[in-house]
Amino acid sequence: MSYETLEIAMDGPVRHVRLNRPDVRNAFNGAVVDELTLAFEAADADDATRAVVLSGNGKSFSAGADLAWMKEQAGLPHAENAAGAEHMARMFLTIARCRKPVVGRIHGHALGGGSGLTAAVDVAVCTETCVFGLTEVKLGIVPAVISPFVLQKIGAGRARTLFLTGERFDGREAQRIGLVHRAVAEAELDSAVQASIDELLSAGPAAVASAKELIRNVAHLSLEDAVPVTSKWIADLRATDEAKEGFTAFLDKRRPGWMS
Ligand code: COA
Repeated sequence: MSYETLEIAMDGPVRHVRLNRPDVRNAFNGAVVDELTLAFEAADADDATRAVVLSGNGKSFSAGADLAWMKEQAGLPHAENAAGAEHMARMFLTIARCRKPVVGRIHGHALGGGSGLTAAVDVAVCTETCVFGLTEVKLGIVPAVISPFVLQKIGAGRARTLFLTGERFDGREAQRIGLVHRAVAEAELDSAVQASIDELLSAGPAAVASAKELIRNVAHLSLEDAVPVTSKWIADLRATDEAKEGFTAFLDKRRPGWMS
């Protein structure tokens, strides 16, 4: 499959997905929505992929939705407008649900949907000077399709300020409020991304996928309701071949097979 708006490259078990519309700061239009969805479905289905890095070529990670495309969509008959919006919402869901861990390499600007993509990945690493913002209100719209992903990372309280004011904030603040995992100096961005990848690759692949699913299944439960779910989860997981290998490797003082 060849992509027009993305660059895809494998580096061993790591799949790099790079937004590639640098002239418009990687704003996403319908083609990007289609291709990102396909790229993350492909990553999910590929046994050779153990982690995905999402990044943007050029000056900025992403300036969010392409405003020329948004204007075009707004002019369509309502059913088509609604179908396009659902397709965009499903792109974020496909990224967030990908069974392979997704690391975001965020630099320059990550505005509107760019902040949304940052929220949809598992481990976001950004530069301290990167500019974020849920800026949609400045355009007379709201951060609707990205809201579930952003709310999961920063909570409703912080979202009330940031969604309503549309104010911009830097990478340090993004780390403080939990939108990103780490904010680092520009020169350290690639090594910080690599450090997260190394951590992910040293973990059992099925365990990483299970950890992601665990969060989705448990986050909304009461402590009481969680008991049957989490106890079954660990009972099932600790009986897998991967867990047996993990326990045995530790007790034998050797590296587990998935690290060789
Ligand atoms: N949609 C469509 N085009 C966009 C875009 C967007 N979201 N963001 C940037 N572009 C285009 C600009 O129109 C410009 O096109 P031109 O070269 O034909 O004039 C080009 O990308 C470069 O943008 P520019 O503003 O000159 O670059 P910059 O590096 O100085 O600033 C941003 C980058 C991201 C800070 C600035 O472009 C911006 O604020 N964009 C809007 C972001 C936004 O509000 N996103 C929310 C979308 S819901």
